[in-house]
Amino acid sequence: MEEIDILPTTVYSFNSESRLHENVRKLVERETRSKNRENYATRHDLYTKKEYAECVDWLKACVDEVTQKLGYACKSMEITQMTAAIATKGQTHHPHDHSNSVISGVWYLNAVEGGETVLFDVNRWHVSPVRLDPSRPHTTDPHGSHGAFSFKFYEWYKYDANGRLTPRHDKFNPFVVATVRPEPGKLILFPAWLLHAVAPNLSRETRYTIAFNCFPRGFGYGSHKVDY
Ligand SMILES: [Fe+2]
Repeated sequence: MEEIDILPTTVYSFNSESRLHENVRKLVERETRSKNRENYATRHDLYTKKEYAECVDWLKACVDEVTQKLGYACKSMEITQMTAAIATKGQTHHPHDHSNSVISGVWYLNAVEGGETVLFDVNRWHVSPVRLDPSRPHTTDPHGSHGAFSFKFYEWYKYDANGRLTPRHDKFNPFVVATVRPEPGKLILFPAWLLHAVAPNLSRETRYTIAFNCFPRGFGYGSHKVDY
């Protein structure tokens, strides 16, 4: 039997000038952070603070380029959330997607060992509304209660001692689309539905990123038009 993998997804990458991400990293270091399940996050509306205006302009220019490239018919693509994520040694971020968003972005403010963004999709045979997956009801994983995809991810994958993703089984594997290494100033833009996780930060250096989401303004036609 031959297996044919289909449904590719494009992720777009940009690089900022070092002055820009270094300034933002200093701003983020001063922000109040609160504990997430596995790491720390700041408030979710950093894009509204005037000290971030220059970086918001740059992020929006990158988003506009992708919006144009994809030929999306909308008046504009607006940033609707912007948070700094902070991970100290050993910290991760569980698998998730971003609801009520179209384009999502991660902008790396520094380099760390490990801490890769893992972009993945599930094998669509296992997204059936008929619950055929035998491992589903049996999880003992502490992250299991946080949604079906995260549930499946930890059933199927674990991080080894070196922070690398290792499949637990030969079957039910999600597709890992890509792993993206944190590099200072690198920005990736990806569809908001694309599942992603953060591998453990293996260095003593704290990992700083800006994560943000975008939603279109002025789209659709006729009686299906959405404008606000
Ligand atoms: Fe995310």
